[in-house]
Amino acid sequence: MNPGAQPQPPLASGAPPASGAPLASGAPPIEVRELVKRYGALTAVAGVDLTVNVGDVYGYLGPNGAGKTTSLRMMLGLIRPTAGSVRLFGRDPTESVHALEGVAGFVEAPTFYPYLSGRRNLELLAAFDGGEARGRIDGALETVDLAHRAGDRVGGYSHGMRQRLGIAAALLRDPKLLLLDEPATGLDPAGMRDMRLLIRQLADQGITVLLSSHLLTEVEEVCNRVAIVRAGSIVYEGEIADLKRGAGTTYRLSTTDDERALAICRAQRGIGDPQLRRDRIVFSADEAAVAELSQALVEAGALIRELAPQTVTLEDLFFSLTEGRDDAGHEAVDGNGRVAASQAEAAR
Ligand SMILES: Nc1ncnc2c1ncn2[C@@H]1O[C@H](COP(=O)(O)OP(=O)(O)OP(=O)(O)O)[C@@H](O)[C@H]1O
Ligand SMILES: [Mg+2]
Repeated sequence: MNPGAQPQPPLASGAPPASGAPLASGAPPIEVRELVKRYGALTAVAGVDLTVNVGDVYGYLGPNGAGKTTSLRMMLGLIRPTAGSVRLFGRDPTESVHALEGVAGFVEAPTFYPYLSGRRNLELLAAFDGGEARGRIDGALETVDLAHRAGDRVGGYSHGMRQRLGIAAALLRDPKLLLLDEPATGLDPAGMRDMRLLIRQLADQGITVLLSSHLLTEVEEVCNRVAIVRAGSIVYEGEIADLKRGAGTTYRLSTTDDERALAICRAQRGIGDPQLRRDRIVFSADEAAVAELSQALVEAGALIRELAPQTVTLEDLFFSLTEGRDDAGHEAVDGNGRVAASQAEAAR
């Protein structure tokens, strides 16, 4: 939706430079309550609640059409919610441009004048922004590792370079909060790694980040919290570690005598569903049961070559949450928005 040949202002069009009302103290960077967006009969966002706290790198995760971009547009005040509310540092982006102070980012893809250089594009945006933005251009180009290509026409930039220039444009606003819509989508593995490192680096500098993605491994590596969205609704919100812990841990075992080891696993208390797969035994268990198992194996003469935990991947969980396996209408979350244990089990 970004206007074709125009550089995208850093999503705070008209927002004044640093002179507005002070940030509401203590209010979280993003607070979204019962957010709804309907387009005619289609409900793109169906009652989203989420809170992003200072220091979070928050992953907004969902498949194509889940409502990620629509949600981000509402968070950035680009479109009005049909119902519900957005607060950025306690302020409503649809009511006051001041709400977008300290906030920057892009939806779908950053857009620039292709026939101008990266630097010239940033200069135009800085002029638009006013204040000290111009003085941040060199630093922003350095941060996103584009200083050496800043004089080249943006039309000749790779997709990854354009994404990085989009982040440089956002940095001109000296943001406390960055909202990035699928910043790594379409990048090759090296580009994704660079984007990941860049986001972590920005977070380390104290910038709170919300990024949307359908790239689960990406989110798993860079985000501390996630919301998983399916058909406009959140099916999980919380820490990735909790989500994975709820799913329990599976182990991989290899011994000098796997037949015997398998029999011992089957007889051992606390070892769940042991199976021989290729040259490994796989089972679920808690740590105490694993410690007892290792002793039993040694005593039986099945010496351990490998015994390693394999935590469930977010990807496994994601599919169980987003594909809605439970067609009986039982949600994949309990009343607190947590993944129900049975669903987490099903994801394994
Ligand atoms: N302006 C609009 N008019 C009508 N329908 C829209 C509009 N914008 C979004 N939608 C619909 O809302 C739903 C959610 O779209 P949205 O772009 O938010 O999804 P997304 O999660 O960002 O998907 P993707 O991963 O493909 O970017 C889709 O069904 C989409 O067709
Ligand atoms: Mg989108």
